[in-house]
Amino acid sequence: MASSSASSSSFKVFFFLFCVFAILSSISSATEAEKEHVLTLDHSNFSKVVAEHKFIVVEFYAPWCGHCKNLAPEYEKAASVLSTHDPPVALAKVDANAEENKGLAEQFEIQGFPTIKILKNGGEVVQDYKGPREADGIVEYLKKQVGPASFEIKTPEDAGSLIDDKKVFVVGIFPSLSGEEFVNFTILADKLRSDYDFGHTTNAQLLPRGESSVTTPTVRLLKPFDELFVDFQKFDVDALEKFIEDSSLPVVTLFDQSPTNQPFLVKYFESPNAKAMMFLDFGHEHIDAFKSKYTDVAGMYKVKGLNFLLGDVKASQAALQYFGLKENQSPVLIVQNSNGLKFINSNVEVDQLAPWLQDYVDGKVKPFIKSEPIPETNDEPVKVVVANSLKDMVLDSKKNILLEIYAPWCGHCKKLAPILDEVAVSFENDAGVMIAKFDGSNNDIPSETFEVQGYPTLYFRSSSGKVVPYEGNRTKEDIIDFIQKNREDETLTPTATAAESGKDEL
Ligand SMILES: *[C@@H]1O[C@H](CO)[C@@H](O)[C@H](O)[C@H]1NC(C)=O
Ligand SMILES: *[C@@H]1O[C@H](CO)[C@@H](O)[C@H](O)[C@H]1NC(C)=O
Ligand SMILES: *[C@@H]1O[C@H](CO)[C@@H](O)[C@H](O)[C@H]1NC(C)=O
Repeated sequence: MASSSASSSSFKVFFFLFCVFAILSSISSATEAEKEHVLTLDHSNFSKVVAEHKFIVVEFYAPWCGHCKNLAPEYEKAASVLSTHDPPVALAKVDANAEENKGLAEQFEIQGFPTIKILKNGGEVVQDYKGPREADGIVEYLKKQVGPASFEIKTPEDAGSLIDDKKVFVVGIFPSLSGEEFVNFTILADKLRSDYDFGHTTNAQLLPRGESSVTTPTVRLLKPFDELFVDFQKFDVDALEKFIEDSSLPVVTLFDQSPTNQPFLVKYFESPNAKAMMFLDFGHEHIDAFKSKYTDVAGMYKVKGLNFLLGDVKASQAALQYFGLKENQSPVLIVQNSNGLKFINSNVEVDQLAPWLQDYVDGKVKPFIKSEPIPETNDEPVKVVVANSLKDMVLDSKKNILLEIYAPWCGHCKKLAPILDEVAVSFENDAGVMIAKFDGSNNDIPSETFEVQGYPTLYFRSSSGKVVPYEGNRTKEDIIDFIQKNREDETLTPTATAAESGKDEL
């Protein structure tokens, strides 16, 4: 009885408050219709406002950016929820596209929109926002960011609730919670808080793994793979960061779909290190021997700056396709170095793993270049260039070449094709000019010469080897005009060109 009347009366109170709230909010929205919780900043007041805040989040946006428009109501909602949070969390935005704010965009190295930064201690510390883009997610993420970066573990219950056995957890063990080691640990915890969970304690016995009678400051990284925990005793901030980054990556990362594995895959692919990847059939009769040898080899070559991945060939079709490989080439060991060069060993035997990697490290393995076969006939007006004919037909040709890098599935490329045909026809009797196309999805292109961000990408390479992107309008007249202005002919001096013009910077 009591409880039902209590709940029905609380329902009435709630309903009453709801009505009052609705009325109040309709009044307030009538009186101050534009009340926004997100602060609008610009070059004139950015520094001043940031300096006044211990914790402020800044969205750099552009008025034309669709993702920014989707974010705006969520961001405002989060700002409204967080406006009453203790400690305070302020949300702000800057139109980084506006001419007068370009300096700010440069200062914060804004590359795309929206970019969200977290500024702490009046702007002294700048971090990337790596959280979700909807209101509840933003609120949760920022609450975590504004609280302590590392939590003290005082009881077995603290340890139980903080340490997740499926994740990496970094814990500092200190004789007392002070001193330079503790301060450095806290600085790093704050820096890496979006990527790892941190804790600290004066009692190592509370931790699930590792030596429990620790007497000197120690950082213990608990992880759900390999040796399950590692201790480290240097407290230089950079050394500590490197330790955490290195030891939180498995010796061999598995390429699979399991959600708990995804953070490790993300780290694997984001790492600047060279990547070794092996794909084989997990039903292979020698699979265990392969896995164990691969893990040994990974342990040996990790120190040479290689990170290792292992995937079942049956579940890795997209990866194989990316490298231009077929399933019957498995077991296949691939290395992709930090310049994007690929080295491939197909149908590798278990006892070749280590020697081949040693050859790779010694620079004895030649990079693999994906190429379609060189076409036997090539007599259409627009010439076909593949990776294996790029050198002969383009780089060594001494012609003025307009090269279209396209993909068969790309709609804008299909629209451009008849225009390029017409351009090519108009130069058919001009031996100094060639119009060519290159299927960038089935051929590797040297990225240091032809950077490709999307399809189609058009480059003009003059007979003396000067390469400029074509960014003009995709009409027959404009393209022909551009070629005529930029072409160099043997008899002319190479400096007499107008190649420098016409590039739009963001
Ligand atoms: C900063 O300056 C701009 C333009 O003068 C103004 O619209 C904005 O409200 C100011 N922001 C704050 C938080 O004072
Ligand atoms: C704390 O970090 C700073 C900066 O990396 C370093 O110079 C100092 O030696 C570190 N302190 C200790 C006790 O390792
Ligand atoms: C492309 O065409 C538009 C409209 O015809 C023109 O305004 C613009 O200047 C042209 N751009 C270039 C690079 O020629």
